[in-house]
Amino acid sequence: MTARIIDGKAIAAGLREKVAGHARRLTERHGIVPGLAVVLVGDHPASAVYVRSKAAQTEAAGMRSFRHQMPADATQAELLALIARLNGDPAVHGILVQLPLPPHIDPHAVIAALDPMKDVDGFHPINAGRLATGLPALVPCTPLACVILAKTVRPLAGLAAVVVGRSNIVGKPLAQLLLAENATVTIAHSKTRDLPAVCRGADLLCAAIGRPEFVRGDFIKPGATVIDVGINRVALADGKHRLVGDVAFAEASAVAGAITPVPGGVGPMTLACLLANTLRAASAIAGLPVPVISDQ
Ligand code: GUN
Repeated sequence: MTARIIDGKAIAAGLREKVAGHARRLTERHGIVPGLAVVLVGDHPASAVYVRSKAAQTEAAGMRSFRHQMPADATQAELLALIARLNGDPAVHGILVQLPLPPHIDPHAVIAALDPMKDVDGFHPINAGRLATGLPALVPCTPLACVILAKTVRPLAGLAAVVVGRSNIVGKPLAQLLLAENATVTIAHSKTRDLPAVCRGADLLCAAIGRPEFVRGDFIKPGATVIDVGINRVALADGKHRLVGDVAFAEASAVAGAITPVPGGVGPMTLACLLANTLRAASAIAGLPVPVISDQ
């Protein structure tokens, strides 16, 4: 079997177009230009590239982009003061604090300081709790991207879904979203016994481990859908780098029914979901109905 490639780039472009249409209407009818503030502490090179592409896509969707760069030795108090300012700024509807933060800053304290209405990452305990209890919430972008991409292959109700990884950013919220789609969900992790066998039970396998090409061909049930969340930079012999996922793509695509590539799969879709969340936040803050952008 050769897997169908799930074209995240094309699907993301479609979602961004819909977001741009909604943003235009919000501006024309209500005078609201959705604004996204991205806060970067330090100069983590991968984060800097990621933040630049966020700004360009935000503006292309008819939204405002505010970038706040703080030095790597900025204090937690300084970061909390910036967040308080952004919480009170009416031009800012979404706040994203790029993770990871330097080790002297407690990410939980920073996330808890965000106005939950502006928490476009969906990381605030209020949004995490609302998702877990089935209430409307701002939902983390990467899990949202995974679910939208998986649903382009087939409906998720009744599927055996295995999520490898239990982070607050991806694994845990992804499991909640899949449960809400009526999948039967297993969360596997580094301590899971016989991980390949657990993965082989999956009709939908989502890998969010952060280890290059960890999921091999023999982890995959023939015909399964494979969603690869990993973005790992691996050094090549000639000193250059290559981006690879958490899944060994060539092996996996010989067994899977459908698979996301890296790059060009979950990554672009995550960014499109961030824009969708910014639009949702801007609508909700204005007391307007939250637009249905995708069926998520
Ligand atoms: N770092 C890696 N992924 C993410 C994400 O989705 N949001 C934030 N804020 N930081 C990240």
